[in-house]
Amino acid sequence: MNSVLRLEGIRKRFGAVPVLAGIDIDVREGEFATFMGPSGCGKTTLLRIIGGFVTPDSGVVYLDGRNANAIPPFARDTAMVFQNGALFPHLSVAENIAFGLRVRRLPDRRVRDRVRELLALVQLEGTEDRAIDRLSGGQQQRVALARAFSLEPRVLLLDEPHSSLDANLRLSMREELRRLQRRLGLTTILVTHDQHEAMSVSDRIFVLNEGRIQQEGSPIDIYESPANAFVAQFVGAMNFLPGTIRAFDATSGCYRIETALGPLAVRGASDAFAPGAAVTVGVRPEAIRIGGEELRSEPNTVAGRVEIAMYTGARIEYAVLAGAERLAVFVANPGRGRPHDGAVWLALPLEALVLAGRTS
Ligand SMILES: Nc1ncnc2c1ncn2[C@@H]1O[C@H](COP(=O)(O)OP(=O)(O)OP(=O)(O)O)[C@@H](O)[C@H]1O
Ligand SMILES: [Mg+2]
Repeated sequence: MNSVLRLEGIRKRFGAVPVLAGIDIDVREGEFATFMGPSGCGKTTLLRIIGGFVTPDSGVVYLDGRNANAIPPFARDTAMVFQNGALFPHLSVAENIAFGLRVRRLPDRRVRDRVRELLALVQLEGTEDRAIDRLSGGQQQRVALARAFSLEPRVLLLDEPHSSLDANLRLSMREELRRLQRRLGLTTILVTHDQHEAMSVSDRIFVLNEGRIQQEGSPIDIYESPANAFVAQFVGAMNFLPGTIRAFDATSGCYRIETALGPLAVRGASDAFAPGAAVTVGVRPEAIRIGGEELRSEPNTVAGRVEIAMYTGARIEYAVLAGAERLAVFVANPGRGRPHDGAVWLALPLEALVLAGRTS
């Protein structure tokens, strides 16, 4: 597959603070790639480097195999939708979308046709003469997208384009974006700190923290096999239990791991850890079952007490005290059934994450 965008050894510091400490990335033609990471980790800076708005201290941006470092933003085959939208408030919808086309001196007729086409694409027909400030937030986002699409860029750069929208609108914009991106075959890079957004639209996610890519992979890879404690905790929720490997049982294919909750059995490869190794066991809240005495006969059961049960609609989120540990347990919507209360039993899964070392 062709690499449309390649980053090699990108570094950037602002003053004494290193923001990007060596970023290497390859993005393939038509791929939807997402940079995800906490606020301030350098996502926008990296996107701006790709768009040519920020110069890296070292490293190279290749577009279609060519070194693009010296190419200014307007001459790069990229289009950026900025974190704050950055539409021209004094121009109409049509004029906003037409802006780049006019800069390229397309004839009026072509511009008009193209604007009509783009408005249909983002389902905003009939709004061409409307002032920007008379559109809803979601409609403005769509104008910004149409403007970015207008020049048919090789790479579309989206900086948190949906952060200002309400939850429902965000969901529908997300679906719309994915549909458009597929239909147009656009190579797209999205920046977000919203894990749901990243998981639902991306072919590949790059998790950034402390200036480096912590992990890259498909949403399933990232969620099911996080490379380290940071990724495990940043993408989804994770309970961490410090433990010590006691033995590997070849019959069950499980390690016996001593933890503060007692011994746990966790599936794994026999050569991964030696007896005595300090590890951290990671268990997703939704992988833990909660119930009464009936769970007691199962493997990996732990007695606990419900500290808090939060009904969120789609699920109930419990905090359960088990010994000195507090475990998050998520249970899919039980309808009108009463949440568990008081003394409970938890059944931890055999499939859990085992990381070398202890996370503090
Ligand atoms: N022009 C600048 N001058 C000095 N520091 C900057 C500049 N731009 C960004 N920074 C700093 O670099 C770091 C990374 O900023 P950046 O905007 O890339 O983060 P981000 O990951 O996009 O965060 P957010 O999710 O909040 O948008 C921050 O600590 C920020 O304060
Ligand atoms: Mg940002």
